[in-house]
Amino acid sequence: MKLWGGRFEGDTDAMAKAFGDSIFFDKALYRYDIEGSIAHATMLGATGILSEADTDAIVQGLRGILADLEAGTLTVDESCEDIHSFVETVLTERIGNPGKMLHTGRSRNDQVALDMRLYTRAEISEIRAALAGLLEVLLNLMKEHKATIMPGFTHLQKAQPVTLAHHLGAYFEMFRRDDERLRDCCRRMNYSPLGAGALAGTTYPLDREMTAELLGFDGATENSMDSVSDRDYLLELLSDLSLVMMHLSRFSEEFILWNSNEYRFITISDAYSTGSSIMPQKKNPDMAELIRGKTGRVYGALMSMLTVMKGIPLAYDKDMQEDKEVTFDAIRTAKMSLLIFTRMLATTTFHKDRMYQSTGGGFTNATDAADWLVAHGVPFRDAHGIIGRLVLYCQEQDKSLNALTLEEYRAIDPVFDETIYDAIDLENCVNRRLTKGAPSGPAMEQQIAAAERYIKERG
Ligand code: ARG
Repeated sequence: MKLWGGRFEGDTDAMAKAFGDSIFFDKALYRYDIEGSIAHATMLGATGILSEADTDAIVQGLRGILADLEAGTLTVDESCEDIHSFVETVLTERIGNPGKMLHTGRSRNDQVALDMRLYTRAEISEIRAALAGLLEVLLNLMKEHKATIMPGFTHLQKAQPVTLAHHLGAYFEMFRRDDERLRDCCRRMNYSPLGAGALAGTTYPLDREMTAELLGFDGATENSMDSVSDRDYLLELLSDLSLVMMHLSRFSEEFILWNSNEYRFITISDAYSTGSSIMPQKKNPDMAELIRGKTGRVYGALMSMLTVMKGIPLAYDKDMQEDKEVTFDAIRTAKMSLLIFTRMLATTTFHKDRMYQSTGGGFTNATDAADWLVAHGVPFRDAHGIIGRLVLYCQEQDKSLNALTLEEYRAIDPVFDETIYDAIDLENCVNRRLTKGAPSGPAMEQQIAAAERYIKERG
């Protein structure tokens, strides 16, 4: 049933109808649409705008529709324009006249604004639950790998020794911030637009605070025009999801590198790898590659919505219907990516010996050797030059700093004595880095304690 046929004499062109209808995707909102309608009807009854009998009939009717849709005994009729028309049509078919009263004091503009907020609020809590799962896996791995030495990189060149716990701790921080951002987004959007009407409120004495409370909002929105035309919260959500994906993509990129034959730092489990149809030796990190690739879709959703919104005059315009498909897709993509990455991370084997070997082979202790010279009275800039010459010598001899004899050290500079070996020992290099946030045991304990506290107290 069309909700707006009265002033029309001609029919909608079939292609125009197919182009404009949103039922194909907004049917995903059915639960929120019905819950919103139940709250609206309850309020219409409580304020005396509708009689008790009509209100009861509407609420019972809506509950029945929801139950039937959940049970699969009622399916969405895709010849309707949108989910709002579908629910109202079925309601009127089932209960007759009172069904036609549901839309009193309401417009599809505030209705759809409400549905999207209820939907995104529920999805944010699912995404945050997935993030919490990832944070927990990271925390467990951090505890397990406090002494697992690995090379830290800059410019993708080995730089200084760190630990796996420290490296994973960096990701813990990124995902913790993502979690906080999503919580903020939810707090800011948690106001009810219901009662804003088409754009200018309504002449019925609606109790907007009542519907807001019934639906778990922190209050009703302040301005009716803003309420029906605001999609800031979606843009905020899509920005937050873009950051989640950016972080997952960087992590995926590292997993792909670490899983390669050249690094061999990790082995991704068979459950999250695939083979090649031609090359029998291959085991590919497809899940990580897909997550890296799907990041583009989520960024795309953000750019789409920024562009959709940028030229729309107040208040509601149909352009805004474009918010749904991209948002639904971005939410599904981010949620799946988080869940898959977490499982992959939890089942990956970390090769400590390879990481250690790689750390020793790349002069990651060169800074510590220079620091030793500084402690023995050499100005840092001179120390840098001396160690640089030592590294050059090592490369010619194919040796590491630890493998040089004291004679070889002294040939470069007589200031060296045997305590240099202690200074460049990899464990010592890590454990002397005691500044807050550094990889040493004590500094890492603090990071782990903070991470534990966050998981326990995150609201
Ligand atoms: N399908 C529409 C949307 O998603 C619902 C709102 C329709 N409002 C209107 N005035 N045509 O935005």
